[in-house]
Amino acid sequence: LQILFVTSEIADFVKVGGLGDVSSALPRALAAHHDIRVLVPAYREMIASDHEIKPVGTLPGFAGLPACEIGEITCHDGLIIYVLLCPELYEREGNPYCDDMGIGWDDNDIRFGRLALAAAEIASGHAGIDWRPQLLHLNDWPTALAAGYLHWRDEPTPCVFTIHNLAYQGTYDPSRRQALGIPEEALTIDGLEFHGNLSFLKAGIVYSSRITTVSATYAREITTPEFGCGLEGLLASKAEEGRLVGIPNGIDDSWDPRTDTHLAQAFATNDWRGKRANADYVRKIFGLAVNNGPLFAVVSRLVHQKGLDMTIGVAESIVRAGGQIVFIGRGELPVENALCNLAARFPGSIGVNIGFDEGEARCMYAGSDFLLMPSRFEPCGLSQMYAQRFGSLPIAHRTGGLADTIEDGVTGFLFDDMTLSSYMHAIQRALTVFQATDLFYAMRRAAMAGRYHWRQSIEPYTQLYRQVLSEQVLSEQ
Ligand code: ADP
Ligand code: GLC
Repeated sequence: LQILFVTSEIADFVKVGGLGDVSSALPRALAAHHDIRVLVPAYREMIASDHEIKPVGTLPGFAGLPACEIGEITCHDGLIIYVLLCPELYEREGNPYCDDMGIGWDDNDIRFGRLALAAAEIASGHAGIDWRPQLLHLNDWPTALAAGYLHWRDEPTPCVFTIHNLAYQGTYDPSRRQALGIPEEALTIDGLEFHGNLSFLKAGIVYSSRITTVSATYAREITTPEFGCGLEGLLASKAEEGRLVGIPNGIDDSWDPRTDTHLAQAFATNDWRGKRANADYVRKIFGLAVNNGPLFAVVSRLVHQKGLDMTIGVAESIVRAGGQIVFIGRGELPVENALCNLAARFPGSIGVNIGFDEGEARCMYAGSDFLLMPSRFEPCGLSQMYAQRFGSLPIAHRTGGLADTIEDGVTGFLFDDMTLSSYMHAIQRALTVFQATDLFYAMRRAAMAGRYHWRQSIEPYTQLYRQVLSEQVLSEQ
């Protein structure tokens, strides 16, 4: 099948969170079976890279969306990435969504409206590219409007829309409608209107043939008021129609402690000395005292979702029990400040790096004994899978993908209530296991067995794509 995978980040060049990993790994896993190509904005990281960008298409302006060009990058492994060239929109300091101060770009509707329309135009064969997808695979709100543009233009190409995080919706004042070239009749409850605003995310849900999300548990959770962010009714009706499914994320071969060149020392299962070398390295770079106590790690975007306040709340108890904690993360300023204050209170025991560093994060998974992940909600979560692969046992809230990918008491520890006492109870269990060396190592071995891989996602995505295309053929007859 010919599929265009549309995304706002890809780890080859730009990664903010798990979507970057998924966008790099899932198309590659599917490429053995399908002609799947990626479309992403040409951020400055692509322009600055040493990849050749071959011009392959041009698109005129439309409403308030500027004209742009399309370039093609062929990666070393053959993956084709179309990049949307529009310097005024995409070549900026900062990340795909916000500036260096963490403030969202005020033209994000135009930036991602442009991306979505480009996807729709490639699908319709209007971009001058000598390749056309049979189907669009859209990811999260920045790409969601593509399903709308196809619908409003009566173009038949169907869309699969994957929700990686329902909490980010891309809602804008209805006065932005003209600039985005959205027809007036779409601004209704059956269209993309949401509490008087226009919602990119809702367009993806309403106008796509299928909606997927990244774990079975989150697929159920988002049909309830607690997790549905106001869209639970719509999502529940999609689920009833069999149009909402959960397909779990996986991890790719680069996450292997035996071969990862980022590590201080590569190691295999049972080579606990090798793992220890990474712990020593992590303690050193974070300025922590060298000791034999348990080392806890946090690798996270610093946002409300991730429950950093909970970890700050238990930090003193962990230190009193002889543990140390290292944090790497970037995000909301108050959370960054709170972590820096925490490190200042416990020098030698708590280390904080406010930043983003792939190599350091990998060393932290490899060097730590436990990963702390008390997320309020978690669509899938990749960090807990990486940690397990590197022999670090996750301690996590039983929600979303965390509930599906951590076996309580076998590969990690789960707690049920989002309270400090429930969290602390799980940490106590972990500390007890840490003392019982045989059990601790048995859990490490179980965690490292590597049961989550993208291979497992090929079949469910392929089935879904085929279903969508066969329905489309039927509807055309
Ligand atoms: P989310 O997508 O919600 O951020 P995931 O667990 O799915 O959560 O993915 C997070 C990804 O981002 C992982 O690959 C993790 O290692 C990485 N990551 C998060 N914060 C940092 C950081 N500060 N430095 C390096 N990698 C990070
Ligand atoms: C989102 C979610 C995370 C998921 C990732 C990739 O950022 O927060 O749980 O793993 O997308 O699907």
